[in-house]
Amino acid sequence: MSSQPADTDWFTHDRFGMFLHWGLYAMGARHEWLMNRERMTVEQYERYFRRFDPDLFDAREWAAAAKSAGMKYVVLTTKHHDGFCLWDSALTEYTVMQTPFGRDVVAEFVEAVREAGLKVGFYHSLLDWHHPDFPIDGFHPQRDEPNAAALNDRRDMARYREYLHGQVRELLTGYGRIDYLFFDFSYGQGHEPQVWGAKDADDWDSEHLLEMVRELQPGILVNDRLGIPGDFVTPEQYQPDRPMERDGHPVLWEACQTLNGSWGYDRDNTDYKDVGMLVRMLIDGVAKNGNLLLNVGPTGRGAFDGHATTALDGIGEWTRVHGRSIYGAGASRFTPPADVRYTQRGDRLYVHVFAWPFETLHLPGLADHVEYAQMLDDGSEVKMRVIDPHATAQTLSQPGQPEGTLTVTLPVRRPDVAVPVIELFLRS
Ligand code: GLC
Repeated sequence: MSSQPADTDWFTHDRFGMFLHWGLYAMGARHEWLMNRERMTVEQYERYFRRFDPDLFDAREWAAAAKSAGMKYVVLTTKHHDGFCLWDSALTEYTVMQTPFGRDVVAEFVEAVREAGLKVGFYHSLLDWHHPDFPIDGFHPQRDEPNAAALNDRRDMARYREYLHGQVRELLTGYGRIDYLFFDFSYGQGHEPQVWGAKDADDWDSEHLLEMVRELQPGILVNDRLGIPGDFVTPEQYQPDRPMERDGHPVLWEACQTLNGSWGYDRDNTDYKDVGMLVRMLIDGVAKNGNLLLNVGPTGRGAFDGHATTALDGIGEWTRVHGRSIYGAGASRFTPPADVRYTQRGDRLYVHVFAWPFETLHLPGLADHVEYAQMLDDGSEVKMRVIDPHATAQTLSQPGQPEGTLTVTLPVRRPDVAVPVIELFLRS
């Protein structure tokens, strides 16, 4: 086995990627699990397949949107749980090539993302609700059919496994270098809630699958959802409150997050996070040594809707000016005060102020460590001082601060940016 270790440097440097969930479910426009939720048969679901013709699809526009938001890698669903394939697979007819659209979306995606200078990632579903050999289980759309058990007699997991491995081989041989792979997902041991017929590493033969992946794409990064350890862990739709660990050891991690709770385009769901919250989530992750993979679910016509565009534009406005607190940055050994997140890159410490105080911000433990301070948005100097710990409060002067505290004086008017940042130049 030519198992070259994963190339993690770009990943910890880049910090911010775009997730794209796109497939037939974009036409249903009510969550990518609609086939499961509505217990649709393959025949019922194929109404989307017969009409898939996204006339507004332009992979270059997607890549450009990711890039201008400040994202450095893009991850596309090659196949989601519904089994529909966005590439020209030789192993099934259930591909984009057999729809009215008839174009290899994965090929166009890879080319556009590469051309934009971004890293290329694939998401690939282990589950497959379309494949005739994938055994019905508690997640399957046919789970409630009275003859589910009898139907399973004709289904052969070994044949499905061969199909799964074969498709992954196609994806990793037909499209040049692939930097990143997100498998989704194992739901056996430890999965809550327990699912009948749940599938796990043995069912996918994850060991061999992963071995093949590393052979075909040396250096590729693979996530942790095969039921065996991968190169990074993937907290989903929550913000870890500390750097993530496995068995007491720090691990690479990436939070995947949605704009409104759904991954696939979900027309009537208006639970949108605003730009401020999204930027704070990005910062909060980097402050804990994590990445953010932020999802967009393009519409059935292949475009980003207004909500997504507004969010990406707003994030881009912030990252363009404040990117140096994110890229190549990570957790700091210093502990921030309330409502503040620190990130650090070499001798620069970035103070992200989530709640803007009136003029004074006390930074514990930094008194002897900072040479110079400025606002990052406009490079304006920020005054620093150390208040005598024994000073008593007077009419016009503040009380003492604990030994070692650095006090900075902020502009009264909060800079008009999603999250204001103070850049501290640390003494070497
Ligand atoms: C989940 C869901 C899914 C989504 C994914 C993203 O496990 O099944 O629809 O694609 O996570 O992380």
